[in-house]
Amino acid sequence: MEKYFFTYEDIHRTSQDIAERVKASGFEPDVIVAIGSGGFIPARIMRTFLGKPILAVGVAYYDADDKPSELPRKVQWIEEAENKLRGRRILLVDEVDDSRTTLEYCVRELMRHKPAEIAVAVLHNKLKEKRGAIPSEVERYFAGREIEDRWVCYPWDAQDIGAHMASAAESKGARGCDAD
Ligand code: G4P
Ligand code: MG
Repeated sequence: MEKYFFTYEDIHRTSQDIAERVKASGFEPDVIVAIGSGGFIPARIMRTFLGKPILAVGVAYYDADDKPSELPRKVQWIEEAENKLRGRRILLVDEVDDSRTTLEYCVRELMRHKPAEIAVAVLHNKLKEKRGAIPSEVERYFAGREIEDRWVCYPWDAQDIGAHMASAAESKGARGCDAD
């Protein structure tokens, strides 16, 4: 099955586009919360345009005995989260909305800290049936691009960035457009 290949430039442009849409929506976050590790680089680029601090959270799909689990669990969470998030407006950032399980879990956990608002931003939303749901408290959801349910190859996963760039250029050439 055909995959998507996005370059660092694609990611930068999509992150900027999201940041501009966040601003245009009237939502001014106090803090960006990045879901690791895929959300780290998009969150950092959004910071360039939004100028807000970043906190990071991490979740994993294995338990303490290294066995795979259906549900996510926290591997890293915000220290003193309550102080930093209570009454604040959070922009929660991840790279891809796939099954939505991680996003649902993170929104629910963050809600426990009583923020004023949580908005969600992802670079790519796969158009598919989702296992998770974005809780109804989330009024703003920004997807950089809506994409088909195919595997996305991100540049930060590339063992060979030259080959990755070549694949991205090839797929853009084949589509005759900017990969969307
Ligand atoms: P969701 O709530 O955001 O939809 O995430 P979901 O739990 O479905 O995703 C499980 C893991 O699979 C996540 O990584 C997610 O980034 C990764 N994933 C899903 N689809 C793709 C894809 O098309 N390409 C790539 N590269 N990854 C995908 P994770 O366990 O959080 O790891 P990571 O973010 O540290 O890489
Ligand atoms: Mg991820």
